[in-house]
Amino acid sequence: MPAPWWQSAVIYQIYPRSFADANGDGIGDLPGVTSKVPYLADVLGVDAIWLSPFYPSPQKDFGYDVADHADIAPEYGTLDDFDALMATCSEHGLRVIVDFVPNHTSDQHRWFLESRASRSAGKRDWYVWADRAPDGGPPSNWLSVFGGSAWEWDAETGQYYLHSFLTSQPDLNWRNPEVRAAQHDVLRFWLDRGVSGFRIDVAHFIAKDPEMRDNPAAIADDGDGWFKELGAYDAQSHLYDKGHPDVHGFFRELRKVFDDYPDTYSIGEIHEDDPRAWVSYLGAQGDELHQVFDFSLLYAPWDASALRELLDRQEAILPEGAWPNHVLGNHDEPRFAFRRGADAARIGAMLLLTSRGTPTLYYGDELGMTQPVIPPEDQLDPWGRAGEVVGRDGCRTPMQWDGSVHGGFSAPGTASTWLPVHPDHVTRNVATQLSDEDSILNLHRRLLAARKASPALQLGDYLPLDGLPDGVLGWERISGDDRRVVLLNLATRYEFVDGVHGTIEVATTVHREHERVTGRLLLAAHEGVVVRPA
Ligand code: NOJ
Ligand code: CA
Repeated sequence: MPAPWWQSAVIYQIYPRSFADANGDGIGDLPGVTSKVPYLADVLGVDAIWLSPFYPSPQKDFGYDVADHADIAPEYGTLDDFDALMATCSEHGLRVIVDFVPNHTSDQHRWFLESRASRSAGKRDWYVWADRAPDGGPPSNWLSVFGGSAWEWDAETGQYYLHSFLTSQPDLNWRNPEVRAAQHDVLRFWLDRGVSGFRIDVAHFIAKDPEMRDNPAAIADDGDGWFKELGAYDAQSHLYDKGHPDVHGFFRELRKVFDDYPDTYSIGEIHEDDPRAWVSYLGAQGDELHQVFDFSLLYAPWDASALRELLDRQEAILPEGAWPNHVLGNHDEPRFAFRRGADAARIGAMLLLTSRGTPTLYYGDELGMTQPVIPPEDQLDPWGRAGEVVGRDGCRTPMQWDGSVHGGFSAPGTASTWLPVHPDHVTRNVATQLSDEDSILNLHRRLLAARKASPALQLGDYLPLDGLPDGVLGWERISGDDRRVVLLNLATRYEFVDGVHGTIEVATTVHREHERVTGRLLLAAHEGVVVRPA
């Protein structure tokens, strides 16, 4: 049996609002994405794109508040534009994954408008409604990830509704079979249009405690990654407001829908530190989600021994037949190059694209894009405006295509772009980097090409190398006769690695490529190499 396509694929995440603006209104759109397909497929060389939400939406949470699951927001285009994008992608052999937001909708979605109309409305039970607690307050102590109580009082009908995120993002009631059927129809709608799969937003939130019990206080460090910085939210242990075991039944149903369409892939966004809980979403029989995002590299200490431990641990916790994945950035996290610096961005690219697993590359990270510091009061992101965290505008600034006034994102005559283009676009952009052999963009291109040409890099086993100098992380990838050795010097000084024989195929410093190594390899500070053994 050949491996499923998504195991050897490299996925590229596009934030549609920020990628390319075809009609000059300062907002990215689907025709913009279509115009960049040749760049993605042929110049860069990725295999699939994941599009963050492009559905009609009041944009309170920039598309994660969906007002209609089966259409395109007017500022992004039309369904015809979507079909045109699909056709262009298929001409270029690029697969398309779309974002599925199951947990909540916009409060402007017709389902919610109907649900809130009256207590006897046909869709009342499609959302999570509850009476006041005996003390007159909200039904439970559950909190919104974005701050405050997760319950909003609806004076018209005299009940509270649940919103795990913004008040304008009411949670759907997945315990209602009609809701599940309607959501399955949403999946089929996009599968029928040719998509290859779904990234599933906060997938574990869809099942909560049916009794809506209060969450207990957190014991020590009980935070779960993404939300760790949030004081009040993190002070609770989130036992009851998400991840109820019934979620597995819901996922098994989703999997049946996926399995009706050959080659469909799903990856859940699940922030979960406990490895056993994390793998449980793949299904006891491998019959739930195909993958669960592994966010552990995002905030791992950037040193060789911590990363070695992390990669080994990841291999150890995955059940037989499951496949790892890696992420260095996304639309919720400060950019990798901003957090770690330019040297780490190059080594990070090599790690991401040569370790065992499916990499997801965030748009602009191939340029080492960094981010401006935007004060909370200037942010559009509701979470950023709340000021408790860095905020997410910074990692969502427009893609930097060239050195022109709006960085080639919008035509130069455009009045302004929805978020400011980073001032460094004058030098950091696709056009400039394509003509610089040693740019981080060309490093990505060489890594992607090497990966495509090597069964070992794509699908091979992972064999960590022992006995390396302290600052060096290394492993071998093996598939039959095909082998590659990856050595990453994370230290700030040079290091020698002994016993290496072969040819350097890709290096973070281009002048080292094609060098023959016979025994002792010198790695400069922050230098990484992929060696093809002799
Ligand atoms: C996770 C998404 O990645 C984030 O952008 C969004 O705000 C929340 N889910 C709510 O949908
Ligand atoms: Ca536009």
